[in-house]
Amino acid sequence: MAQYSAEISRRRTFAIISHPDAGKTTLTEKLLLFGGAIHVAGAVKSNKIKKTATSDWMEIEKQRGISVATSVMAFDYADHKINILDTPGHQDFAEDTFRTLTAVDSVIIVIDIAKGVEAQTRKLMEVCRMRKTPVIVFVNKMDRDGKDPFDLLDEIEEELHIKVRPLSWPIDMGQRFRGVYNIYEQKLNLYTPSKQYVTENVEFKDINSPDLEHYIDPAQAAKLREDVEMIEGVYPAFDVDTYLAGDIAPVFFGSALNNFGVKELLDCFINIAPSPRPVQALERKVDPYEDNFTGFVFKIHANMDPNHRSCIAFVKICSGRFERNANYKHVRFGKMMRFSSPTAFMAQKKEVVDEAFAGDIVGLPDTGNFKIGDTLTAGEELHFKGLPSFSPEMFKYIENADPMKAKQLNKGIEQLMDEGVAQLFVNQFNGRKIIGTVGQLQFEVIQYRLLHEYGAQCKWEPISLYKACWIESDNQQALDNFKRRKQQYMALDKEGRDVYLADSSYVLMMAQQDFPDIKFHFTSEF
Ligand code: G4P
Repeated sequence: MAQYSAEISRRRTFAIISHPDAGKTTLTEKLLLFGGAIHVAGAVKSNKIKKTATSDWMEIEKQRGISVATSVMAFDYADHKINILDTPGHQDFAEDTFRTLTAVDSVIIVIDIAKGVEAQTRKLMEVCRMRKTPVIVFVNKMDRDGKDPFDLLDEIEEELHIKVRPLSWPIDMGQRFRGVYNIYEQKLNLYTPSKQYVTENVEFKDINSPDLEHYIDPAQAAKLREDVEMIEGVYPAFDVDTYLAGDIAPVFFGSALNNFGVKELLDCFINIAPSPRPVQALERKVDPYEDNFTGFVFKIHANMDPNHRSCIAFVKICSGRFERNANYKHVRFGKMMRFSSPTAFMAQKKEVVDEAFAGDIVGLPDTGNFKIGDTLTAGEELHFKGLPSFSPEMFKYIENADPMKAKQLNKGIEQLMDEGVAQLFVNQFNGRKIIGTVGQLQFEVIQYRLLHEYGAQCKWEPISLYKACWIESDNQQALDNFKRRKQQYMALDKEGRDVYLADSSYVLMMAQQDFPDIKFHFTSEF
C-alpha cells in the first residue's frame, strides 16, 4: 500500500465545460459555495471576454489576470478534496481548454435546456472521447422553457456520441418547474420558484405511492410516473464502471442560478467520479499511488506585465507527493531542479505550499524553463504524452515589421509557441513562417505580446489555407513522391514533423484520392 493513498484517493480533479452562456461560471460558483470556498454569490468572475470587445486589450489583460487567479479552484467537501480546473470561456482559446482536459480525471458538461448541444460542447466532447474521460451531464436552466427532456437526451447521444443515463428527472419546466425526482438517491427534490432553492427533500423509494400527490399536482405526478417508467424501460440500469470507462454519461437536471440540483450533483459526483487515474507515459503507465513524484506541465501562464517577465507553469501531479525544495528532474533538460515557491490554490487564494499529492495542481514560477508537455520526476527518465495538436482553423504568414529586431521576433515566436499560444509551421518551399490558430483573437494576442514582451513588431499577411494535415506512409517512395509533387504546400511543424497544408477541401479530397498510400491526419498524434 502506498504511503499517501488516503490523501490521493480523496481527490477529485475535474473541469466544467460548456458552450459559452450555458452556465459554467454560475455552476462553478455554486459548487464553491457548498465547499465554503466562497461565501457570497458573485465572487467568481466570469472569464468571458465580451463578444464585442475582440480588440479590447484591457479586456484581454483583465481576462488573463482573472484566469490565473481562477485557474484551479480547490476546496474540501465531505472529506474530499475537490480541484476544479477552469477553462477559458472564449472559444478562440479552445486550445487552452483542450490542454486542460489532459490534466483532469473527469468532466462535468453543462447544457442549456433551451439550446441543447452547441458547437463548442461538441468539440470538447471529442477530446473527452479520445481520452475516455468520464463525463457527467448537467442540464441547466430548468426554470426556463426548453426542449423536451427525452428529445434532449436523444440529441446528446447523437451529437456527443455517448450513451446517457438520467439519474434525475425534471418535473415540468419553466414557470411550471416543480423540481426533480432524484433517481440516484430515490428522493424527491422540490422547488418553489419564489424561494429559488431546494425547498423540500423527501425520501421517495416508490413514486407509484399515492403519497406523491401530496407533493405535486396529479397531472405532474402521472407524467413523472410515466416518464420514470419509460426511463427504466429504455435506459440500462446505471453502472458506475461504464461511466468510469467513459461509455455512459449520467445526466442531472437543475438550475444553477437557483442553486437547484447542484448539491445533489455534487453529492453524486464525489461518490462516483474517479480519484486520480493512472496516466500513460511513453515508457509505461504511471499509477497515482506510486511513492515517487511524477507530473507534467499542461499550461503555462505568462505575466503580461513587461516589467516582470515571468510565467507560472501549471503541473498536474500524476503520482506520489510533491515537496517544496526537493530536487526533481526536468526530463527534457536532463537536469535536477528545485522549486522554492510552488503555489496552490485553496479557496481562491494562491499560496505557497509545502506539499501536494497526485491529483493536485501546483503552479511553479518559471522564467522560460518549461514547455507544455514537459515531464518532472524524482529522477526517472519518463515522458508523459501530451495532447495532440489539432489542425488550426485560421492561418496567416507572420512577417517581421522591424528589421532591427529579427532576433527578438524569432525568440518571441518560439517562446509563445512553447507556451501553446498557437501553432507554427515553416513552409519548406519558401521558408516563410505560418501561424495557425483557432480564432482571430489569438493573432491579436500574439502581435500584442510580441511587441510588449519582446519589443518585436510583426505583421500578418494573408494565406488561404483550409487545413493542416500531418502525413505519414509506410511507403517511403510514395511519401517522397507526394512531398515532391506538393512541394509548395509542405511545411514542418515545431517538432519537425511533415505537414501538408491543403488550400481547399476539394484539393485535399483529390490528394487523398490520388495518393492512396499516404495517410492524412488532422491531429498530430496517430
Ligand atoms: P458561462 O460561464 O457558461 O458562459 O455562463 P454563465 O454562468 O455566465 O451564465 C450565462 C447566463 O445564464 C447568465 O446570465 C446566468 O445568470 C444565466 N444562468 C445560469 N444558470 C441559469 C439558470 O439555471 N437559469 C436561468 N434562468 N439563467 C441561468 P447573464 O444575464 O448573461 O449574466 P448575468 O448578468 O446574470 O451574470
